[in-house]
Amino acid sequence: MYFNKVLHLLAVINLSVQNAYVQGTPTIDYQFEDFGTNDTSARSFATDSNIAQSKLGGPCSYYENRPCTIYGAYCRNEICTCNPYSDITDLSRNECLPKANKTGDPCEVDLQCSSTLSGNGKCGPKKVCICTEGSNPNDDGTECLMGDKFSGEVCSNSMDCFGYPDKSECLNGACQCKSGFVTSSNSSESKLGCLPIIDRTGGECMNKNQCQKGTLGKWSDCAVPEYYRRYYGPNRKECICPEDTYERSLVYGESDICYKIANRIGDSCEESYQCRYNLGKDSDCSPDGECVCLGNSIPSEDGMSCLPSGVLIGNPCQFPEQCVGKPNISSDCSENEICLCKEGFVQNANMSDCVPIRKKVGETCVVPWQCDNIGNNIGCSERSGVKKGTGEKICRCKHGYISGPGKNNCLKKATDIQDSCSIDAQCIPLLKLSRCIRGRCQCVNGAEFRYKAAYGTSTKECVLESV
Ligand SMILES: *[C@@H]1O[C@H](CO)[C@@H](O)[C@H](O)[C@H]1NC(C)=O
Ligand SMILES: *[C@@H]1O[C@H](CO)[C@@H](O)[C@H](O)[C@H]1NC(C)=O
Ligand SMILES: *[C@@H]1O[C@H](CO)[C@@H](O)[C@H](O)[C@H]1NC(C)=O
Ligand SMILES: *[C@@H]1O[C@H](CO)[C@@H](O)[C@H](O)[C@H]1NC(C)=O
Ligand SMILES: *[C@@H]1O[C@H](CO)[C@@H](O)[C@H](O)[C@H]1NC(C)=O
Repeated sequence: MYFNKVLHLLAVINLSVQNAYVQGTPTIDYQFEDFGTNDTSARSFATDSNIAQSKLGGPCSYYENRPCTIYGAYCRNEICTCNPYSDITDLSRNECLPKANKTGDPCEVDLQCSSTLSGNGKCGPKKVCICTEGSNPNDDGTECLMGDKFSGEVCSNSMDCFGYPDKSECLNGACQCKSGFVTSSNSSESKLGCLPIIDRTGGECMNKNQCQKGTLGKWSDCAVPEYYRRYYGPNRKECICPEDTYERSLVYGESDICYKIANRIGDSCEESYQCRYNLGKDSDCSPDGECVCLGNSIPSEDGMSCLPSGVLIGNPCQFPEQCVGKPNISSDCSENEICLCKEGFVQNANMSDCVPIRKKVGETCVVPWQCDNIGNNIGCSERSGVKKGTGEKICRCKHGYISGPGKNNCLKKATDIQDSCSIDAQCIPLLKLSRCIRGRCQCVNGAEFRYKAAYGTSTKECVLESV
């Protein structure tokens, strides 16, 4: 009883605060302290001030010390009033009578039962609320519903349908839930009647259709939330966004939605956050509704993250496709997770590519170290006669050298007779009539070396004796 009083008191304070807000006048809590008591002291206190305050619908005032003393009533707009949410006003009895919550609740008059219970309750002979004839209580007795045919059952009249008129109706020869209500396809659950669709997490449910058919959507569920199970046991089920989903508010305080969290690039999605939640900030939901990697990033091997691509040689990587060059062909991600050029390749000048190591003079190149394998005295430059910086570069022997017969080395051109050599071509540029004989540049048979120096210049040549 005391507990009930406190609840009433709280309800009244709440209402009077709303009231005060509307009127713009402050109310003071202690003035309610005697409100709700039904004992003689309270009545005598009231009687001392004024007689009208103990009549429902009569005048009252907080300020003139004329409180409303009817049990459950309060002073609203200076009229002694019952709480419209929890009570009905019975003027003939001058009492506020509680509205029934369910069948079996005690009652004095029909209105206590018919103001709730879907309008189909009445006060039965045992002074408890019962359903009127033609209606049936739902499973927890909070409603009296017309008809006895459940959703999906044949009907000829809406009155036949359990839950008519609020929740179901006869459509196309079968009872169906009205919009805003669902039934389970599970036939034993359909005996619960039509259940309201719940659009928010935390709303009590019996069946996951209640959650999934509303804004919460297909990823939501009706379950006992983990925190609830721990503290309150497994009896109250509510609409939840399960662990592999996240929740977002659609209209604040009114409707929520559950989104499935994507685990892999390529999973379907409706919005970015589904992808980014697990796959990181470089992922997004494409217009086609698929999680993709943004910009230059590419899916990791397990598809569970987006990693940078175009990683320069010498920089960290996790798998070959991230590296510049042709992954697995010219470049690779090494065991210690650094982008490297594969065997047979070397990096270019700005580490942005892997170029093939050259084996022969005359092959194209972009950097000199591509030609290093050919030996010393080689560089990478334009062909002779082409202006520097304008043409394709090739591996070229340095000035003063010529390529060997297999084009796989550079040999020094002779600068004097008797210079060491391995092929004639080393000697001939200096001395037309010379050959490489026993490892030295020598004049051919019948020719004779001649050295002339005059006026600061000199010539060396092999000259036929007859000349
Ligand atoms: C209040 O007291 C009156 C008179 O004693 C009684 O008839 C009525 O049932 C009481 N109301 C409540 C709610 O206890
Ligand atoms: C109905 O439920 C409310 C809230 O739980 C409670 O305060 C009130 O006493 C109940 N009414 C009846 C008649 O049991
Ligand atoms: C139907 O629902 C009830 C209660 O939730 C459950 O015990 C039963 O296993 C369900 N039956 C089927 C076929 O899903
Ligand atoms: C590169 O090699 C790895 C390991 O052998 C392989 O899984 C991957 O598919 C290859 N990538 C390409 C582009 O060939
Ligand atoms: C590296 O140099 C090449 C030209 O040699 C150029 O095309 C490329 O954009 C450069 N890359 C970077 C990352 O600087």
